[in-house]
Amino acid sequence: MAEEEGKKPAANEEETRRQLEQLLDALVGQSLPRDGRAELVRQVLQERRPGMAADLEALASRLRAEVAEEVQRRSQGEAVPQREYERFSLNFRIQHVVLFSSCIVLILTGLPIKFHDTGWAAAMFSLMGGIQTSAFIHRIGAVGLITVGLYHLLYTGALAEGRRNFFALIPGPKDLRDAALMIRFFLGRTEERPKFGRFSYVEKFDYWAVYWGMIIMCGSGLMLWFENDTMRLFPKYIFDIAKEAHSDEALLATLAIIIWHFYNVHFNPHKFPMNKVWITGRMSEEEMQHEHPLELEEIQRRERQGKAEEKR
Ligand code: HEM
Repeated sequence: MAEEEGKKPAANEEETRRQLEQLLDALVGQSLPRDGRAELVRQVLQERRPGMAADLEALASRLRAEVAEEVQRRSQGEAVPQREYERFSLNFRIQHVVLFSSCIVLILTGLPIKFHDTGWAAAMFSLMGGIQTSAFIHRIGAVGLITVGLYHLLYTGALAEGRRNFFALIPGPKDLRDAALMIRFFLGRTEERPKFGRFSYVEKFDYWAVYWGMIIMCGSGLMLWFENDTMRLFPKYIFDIAKEAHSDEALLATLAIIIWHFYNVHFNPHKFPMNKVWITGRMSEEEMQHEHPLELEEIQRRERQGKAEEKR
């Protein structure tokens, strides 16, 4: 009996192949525009059908093997390991760590200057060894921020990975549509959630807010740091504007990080206590399906294409 099941009779295979070809006719053929070329469409379909059916059979056999493997694993009580995809390279993760470490140092040493007449600022200064030391630590953080900013420019200009990420981060009309659909979804007006590619509109906003913030903070910070040169090169009101911009943007950046960024990657109930991608650089297939389905489809399409080319 088992032997009978194991052996696939040739007639059965013939029948499956015939059904597949009929299905392909329905799936592929019906949607083709015929406008007077019905005979040509029929002919091309007839020629291509066997090849397409063979591709589908190969796919079915791979899926059969995967399902059989998973059934075997589950029946033995093993946890099913999820496939993971690389999201952030080591290079990207190191940039992120240097960026946020510098920002933490700059916020902790900068905000007490802004709110110098408060009790907590005095406590922070004495904790950091006095105002002079705190100002010195602020400059160390500034060197970290400027270095990572300059390196990022090199990364997005000179490395293929950097250019790919940069272009994927440029906002487009789809981001506006996604944001509008997301709001409708949150208001319960639709069941449909937007499908994101490599970066969602939220992530793009995060990126460009930091980009803009870096230009303002590094530009105005350097003007404050080299006060004498600034005064020599520009009228005094330029220095005053730089000081005001540095001070206000510092508060805006701190609040944006705590409210916007921390919610998205830490306090969001789906992410709490944190989204670990910044450490591992990897994301499970399930998460990819939920958060970046268009990118997942693209990766899988490229993999199928690669395998098909290998076969040829
Ligand atoms: C996330 C980035 C940064 C934050 C949050 C931050 C925050 C602050 C704040 C709140 C102040 C006090 C402003 C006031 O008087 O009201 C300040 C002062 C200052 N910041 Fe920054 N800053 C940042 C980046 C930088 C950078 C990149 C530089 C240098 C290139 C810099 C250099 C300075 C200097 C020279 C001062 C004047 C006070 C002093 O001499 O210590 N800051 N910063």
